[in-house]
Amino acid sequence: STIEYIYYRGIMVPPLAHSEESLEYAQNFSIEDTDVLAVTYPKSGTIWMQEILPLVLNGGDLTPVQTIANWDRVPWLEEKRLALVVDQLPNPRAMVTHLPYHLMPPSLQTSRAKVIYVMRNPKDVLVSSYYFHQMAAFLQDPGTFGEFMNTFLEGKVLFGKWTDHVKSWRHTELGDRILYLTYEEMVEDLPAALRRLSVFLGRNLSEEVIQKIAEHCSFRNMKANPMSNFSLVPNEYMDSKKSPFLRKGVAGDWKNHFSSEQLAKFSSVIKKELENEDFCLPCLD
Ligand code: A3P
Repeated sequence: STIEYIYYRGIMVPPLAHSEESLEYAQNFSIEDTDVLAVTYPKSGTIWMQEILPLVLNGGDLTPVQTIANWDRVPWLEEKRLALVVDQLPNPRAMVTHLPYHLMPPSLQTSRAKVIYVMRNPKDVLVSSYYFHQMAAFLQDPGTFGEFMNTFLEGKVLFGKWTDHVKSWRHTELGDRILYLTYEEMVEDLPAALRRLSVFLGRNLSEEVIQKIAEHCSFRNMKANPMSNFSLVPNEYMDSKKSPFLRKGVAGDWKNHFSSEQLAKFSSVIKKELENEDFCLPCLD
């Protein structure tokens, strides 16, 4: 069956959780000085940051994470859910978004809110997205891996081209209000990433608290936790028998999926699109 995606100001978003109204609501949303916004391209570690952020902000208190689902604790700016849960968010509020920078509400710029941008190796993003399209009923069937790679490189995917997203968030006027983290550094050493995050957010967490948060947010624990593993979402929307949402949780799974021709093509397209950029991404290897 063909899925009717929503196109909002040139960006393709999935139906169900999003609507024209929810996207308008996001555009007019009033970001406050104390807000923290995590930004990701889809499949770059969004749910992980959603689990981490409230714990860093509240000093490692596990009470809310045991009673409120991950996606309600840290809702999406662009989804219908935000309007439903916004009044219950604690202060400081944490939210996430997949939108590009130019679709942020003007209040992001004028506030003193902080932003965390999480990037992931686009090859692993592609692989993760491929499986996600198989399990999520509200997404178009991806076809073969090779076909889906072409769709991805053409940017005919949710929230547009990966390179456009990264570039958009690399060129902001946010100055030191934005922190760049990579999925790979989180996989490699989560406590170290949590220390960076906690300093950025002005929380001086003890080593004990850092270790406690890292343990709670490990892949194994999040996968076993109904508040973060999406098992609460009905099977007709997400079928974890086809592929679990928390699927592998590693860096470099692309090596099990790319042929050498696919690798050559993918790398040359990405490299070309980033050729005028002065940044070097550790997650591109
Ligand atoms: P894989 O499909 O490669 O396993 P998003 O939340 O942006 O949709 O990203 C989902 C990806 O992040 C999935 O990648 C998922 O397994 C991974 N992920 C989620 N929580 C994680 C954790 N605690 N540790 C490592 N990876 C995690």
